[in-house]
Amino acid sequence: MTGISLKNIAVFASGNGSNFRAIHQAVTEGDIPGRIGLLVSDNPDCRAVTYARENRIKAEIINFRHNPGTASPGQVLTHILAALPADLVVLAGFMKMIPDSVVQAYKNRILNIHPALLPRFGGRGFYGRRVHEAVIASGAKLSGPTVHFVDEIYDHGPILAQIAVPVLAEDTAESLAKRVLKVEHRLYPEAVKAFCEERIFWKNNIPFIRN
Ligand code: GAR
Repeated sequence: MTGISLKNIAVFASGNGSNFRAIHQAVTEGDIPGRIGLLVSDNPDCRAVTYARENRIKAEIINFRHNPGTASPGQVLTHILAALPADLVVLAGFMKMIPDSVVQAYKNRILNIHPALLPRFGGRGFYGRRVHEAVIASGAKLSGPTVHFVDEIYDHGPILAQIAVPVLAEDTAESLAKRVLKVEHRLYPEAVKAFCEERIFWKNNIPFIRN
């Protein structure tokens, strides 16, 4: 790609970090014109943090409980993202709400992945196996990940990309989660690549990816 500068990416993760790894691999293979300059986590013991350290990616652990007299999580995040400076924030299994001040400062520059076809099966309480249990209980025949831009409401912002997978009669929350996660690892790097290659355009406030 010519004429496009490498984008600085900050990844936020709280758990296993398999999406973080998939995106990092695409970056190191040169498929995404970007660099991951920072991993932010609220959980010092998670695998995502271990992976960051093993791969010499700076890891910042943020306490999301605001103690009076100290900087708020929003202030801390604004400071560390500005220091990068971040072009894109990628939420990859990040389980805390992003403070409104950060959402507003990075409007249309924060992506999230959710393991169901939003706008169904999202919002407060829909995390981990609960999402897949709700999908199975609803009788829906399709599920799959959604990549969306983050706004002030949980699992709510403009939808950028989705992939549908079948829900099978014999599915458990675990088997469905596994099928969805496998396609997350394809969808999320593709979405991040589109952002970094400046192939996202907006029509009537809806984002689309140009081929
Ligand atoms: C993924 O399935 C992701 O879609 C989900 O957490 C998992 C993280 O896996 N995110 C949410 O539920 C956000 N609402 P990972 O840590 O292995 O990438």
